[in-house]
Amino acid sequence: SLPQDVTIKEVGPRDGLQNEKTLIDTEAKISLINQLSESGLSYIELTSFVHPKWIPQLKDAVEVAKGIDRKNDLTYAALVPNLKGLERAIEADVDEVSIFMSASETHNQKNINKSIDETYPVLQEVVDGAKQEGKSVRGYISTVFGCPYEGKIDVNQVMSVCDNLFSMGIDELSIGDTIGVANPVQVHNVLSSMKERFDQNHLALHFHDTRGMALANTYVALEHGFRTFDGSLGGLGGCPYAKGASGNVATDDLVHMLTEMGIETGVNLDKLTNTGLAIEKHLDKPLPSKQMELARRM
Ligand code: HMG
Ligand code: MG
Repeated sequence: SLPQDVTIKEVGPRDGLQNEKTLIDTEAKISLINQLSESGLSYIELTSFVHPKWIPQLKDAVEVAKGIDRKNDLTYAALVPNLKGLERAIEADVDEVSIFMSASETHNQKNINKSIDETYPVLQEVVDGAKQEGKSVRGYISTVFGCPYEGKIDVNQVMSVCDNLFSMGIDELSIGDTIGVANPVQVHNVLSSMKERFDQNHLALHFHDTRGMALANTYVALEHGFRTFDGSLGGLGGCPYAKGASGNVATDDLVHMLTEMGIETGVNLDKLTNTGLAIEKHLDKPLPSKQMELARRM
């Protein structure tokens, strides 16, 4: 049976903006996050503390995190690749740190400039350092359902990276369909194996929507009882180190579907839509979600 309520984690200010070509000024980012904070979301990924040369759009990460109005009942997270990033995340006082790596050797190398084996000790230091500061840690595993360079990734390879990430002491693992190639049957198969091995209360789904399959894949995950889903406002974004990847499943389309299905999200769709209309003015293109397309016609 389907869950009665789910948690949506908004990653638009990070996963969305990191791939937008138009540079968005710091004030616009802050106002985007403040508006998102008012829409009923319980979790927002603010930015990332990666190297500014790799992701110039998010070079103002500290200013953004320090500039927003914080709400007590909301968790503010950010991506952190290494100790240098953790230093900046601590300075910016985020609640949760997200580490990330790939199940695919080639994507891992292109994205964070290290082999998979070289990555583990670097991330372990981040987890230990974050825990010492009293912060929770989320992990991401990318290219679970397919890699832009290597194609299908062996499920044993995926499981081994997941095992290693959980062994580091992370609180939650987000399973990434980085380039949006997953299909519902594949999602069913992968999630069945994941559930056998890990506690599903510590697993989240991170679908990108390149082929428009993210909502179908979400439905399969719901049937499996998964209750945490990442989304990006209006479908903003992509992955700059995965060519051709488009944005995450749109938070607004996800909220709409779940609400219509009688599943509680706590998120106010009108407020979300208005936030989308506001950030759209700063982009060089309309936001791609169905909800935003409808809103523009109203
Ligand atoms: P590197 O060049 O190998 O780094 O990059 P390094 O450790 O050799 O250091 C080189 C220089 O960079 C040093 O400076 C460091 O201090 C500096 P120098 O001594 O030469 O003056 N440096 C930093 N500066 C600021 N912040 C830092 C930092 N780290 C080092 N954190 C690195 C390695 C990981 C830093 C780089 O490859 C990088 O930043 N990669 C990030 C790429 C990225 O953000 N990709 C997108 C996010 S992942 C994603 O979207 C997938 C996800 O959504 C899930 C899914 O969809 O699957 C999460
Ligand atoms: Mg992503």
